[in-house]
Amino acid sequence: MAYETIKSETRGRTGLITLNRPKAMNALSQQMMREICQAAEDFDHDGRIGAIVLTGTDKAFAAGADVKEMEAYEYSEAYLQDLWAGWDRLTRVRKPLIAAVGGYALGGGCEVAMMCDILIAAENAKFGQPEITLGILPGMGGTQRLARSIGKAKTMDLVLTGRMMDAKEAESCGLVSRIVPTADLLEETLKIAEKVADFSLPAVLAAKEAVVEAFETPLASGLRHERRLFHASFATEDQTEGMAAFVQKRGPQFKNR
Ligand code: HXC
Repeated sequence: MAYETIKSETRGRTGLITLNRPKAMNALSQQMMREICQAAEDFDHDGRIGAIVLTGTDKAFAAGADVKEMEAYEYSEAYLQDLWAGWDRLTRVRKPLIAAVGGYALGGGCEVAMMCDILIAAENAKFGQPEITLGILPGMGGTQRLARSIGKAKTMDLVLTGRMMDAKEAESCGLVSRIVPTADLLEETLKIAEKVADFSLPAVLAAKEAVVEAFETPLASGLRHERRLFHASFATEDQTEGMAAFVQKRGPQFKNR
């Protein structure tokens, strides 16, 4: 499929989506949202793919929603269009989404990174929710996902002051999974994606589903859901293979990858 605002390609068993509006610091237009979601859904349905990486340039993962596009919006238009609700498609992708964040991840950019399952930051990454400086507030999940991820105090600090935090602070407060040297960002992230893609896909999908559940349900139902998924994993041939391989002291040959 031909895209105008992103590049979509495969690297081994990884689907790679690169945000591609470098002159606008990868500002997220609505077209870009649709294209990212479409590319991610296509990889989700592609049997050769086991993980999906989302990245930008070394200057910007994405510097937010496209302010120039949003500037003229009025309330009724935003409400009737349910502006930015289209991102829900990305959150329904079942395969692991890994964000490789270099440079700015601001506003909607930070929010899209938080929609991903693993967040790898380059040393030069900067995160923030500067919407308050524009007279608005986050609208793609920033107040909710940030609060669940890093707690109330830091979330309020970022959302109410609009300040940025660097990769170290983001890692120390739990927003970021790992920090890597800026020059190695894509290579290191692709290695992580390939590692995930090498495991049994049913196990990977169920593991992601169970962790996502932790953010959406009370503990008791999350634990029950996890246990059911765990029980179901014993119906897969990859469980038989994985455990047999361990006992026989050899590497597993998963069939469903
Ligand atoms: C549209 C943007 C943009 C954005 C940058 N650009 N961010 N265009 N929307 N969010 C454009 C600039 O206008 C400029 O275009 C070009 O990218 C380069 O940016 P500069 O500002 O010249 O670069 P620099 O001085 O290096 O500063 C980088 C920056 C700054 C710190 C990232 O651009 C910035 O503060 N951007 C806005 C960040 C922001 O407020 N994001 C939140 C958006 S609201 P020209 O044509 O002038 O060269 C949001 C809401 C989400 O995300 C929730 C939905 C409701």
